[in-house]
Amino acid sequence: MSNVAVIEQLSPLSDDECQARIVAARQALGARVVILGHHYQREEVFRHADYSGDSLQLSRWAAQSQADYIIFCGVHFMAEVADILSRPQQIAILPSLAAGCSMADMANLAKVERAWRELTEVLGAADQRVTPVTYINSAADLKAFCGRHGGIVCTSSNARAVLEWSYGRRDKVLFFPDQHLGRNTAYRMGMPLEDMVVWDFELPYGGLTPEQIRAARLILWKGFCSVHQMFRPEHIDRFKQKFPDTLVIAHPEASFEVCQQSDYVGSTEFIVKTIAAAAPGTRWLVGTELNLVNRLHDQFKADGKHVHFMSPTVCMCSTMFRTDPPSLLRVLEGLIEGTVINRITVAERDAEQARLALQRMFDVSV
Ligand code: 13P
Ligand code: SF4
Repeated sequence: MSNVAVIEQLSPLSDDECQARIVAARQALGARVVILGHHYQREEVFRHADYSGDSLQLSRWAAQSQADYIIFCGVHFMAEVADILSRPQQIAILPSLAAGCSMADMANLAKVERAWRELTEVLGAADQRVTPVTYINSAADLKAFCGRHGGIVCTSSNARAVLEWSYGRRDKVLFFPDQHLGRNTAYRMGMPLEDMVVWDFELPYGGLTPEQIRAARLILWKGFCSVHQMFRPEHIDRFKQKFPDTLVIAHPEASFEVCQQSDYVGSTEFIVKTIAAAAPGTRWLVGTELNLVNRLHDQFKADGKHVHFMSPTVCMCSTMFRTDPPSLLRVLEGLIEGTVINRITVAERDAEQARLALQRMFDVSV
């Protein structure tokens, strides 16, 4: 290779060149590729998505897609779901393998199986007493765990329907990995906080006494989203002192106190739709990831809607941010050259059981 060619390869692409090459590669690949983009993706990536949405919608797009390649601009668990729900010959791709979810990583199979054994010791067969519910933000083997133990997956848009289904079958729920989604949803369904306990996965028996376990109806894994836990009730108080007519909307991964002080609580898609449907002149304080809030701010400015970010500090999903235009370009141009970069695959045994838990979720979701 000549020196000129080496220098050309090493010199970074300008943003504009990168964007232009993504568009060209996308066109060249045509219907062989579908790009799915989560609402938290940065704008420079999000604009290339054929379909965007929250986790539930994106999983539906993945299941319906006819494309050979499903490029998931989101995080690892989302690309796993795409692989699980797509046909065997379809290929799921995650442009950056570093795009994980720190909350999903707070639960793993060894810890959940230990919890299940300990619950069985205290309650008798956990399979008859407890429905395991995993938030879609979890590894595929945890979805498979739920599939084989009569459990189910939920997202932030269907958590209520999923909990109703779960309590229709067994009297307790083990909810992982996000304690906040579980607590906020169950409380809104009318369950008092006294009926819930937090399972500390670092401690034997979750750090709970047998009496606490026996009395609990909802056992909440001690996981959380580091982005959403940054929002505090005092952020709302301070903002409302300045703008008392503000409407507050938060994602259910935010703390109980923040959700209690919010006018609306719901998934990323719910947040988008609610603000889109709001009257001109309304002011919104939004407790979810910064890239989405910035997009809403820009999108609705012209309608006279004021969209503000809830926290005074930057709360960005740093893992979602790892998918950047160069990584998207790399996988697209790789496909043109006949190379699949960053394929995500789930072992068939896990995929089969995870599909069971996902199908139960689709069956209860409207
Ligand atoms: P949604 O399902 O609301 O898109 O949320 C996914 C997520 O990871 C939020 O942090
Ligand atoms: Fe995971 Fe939180 Fe990022 Fe959502 S915002 S993908 S829960 S780390």
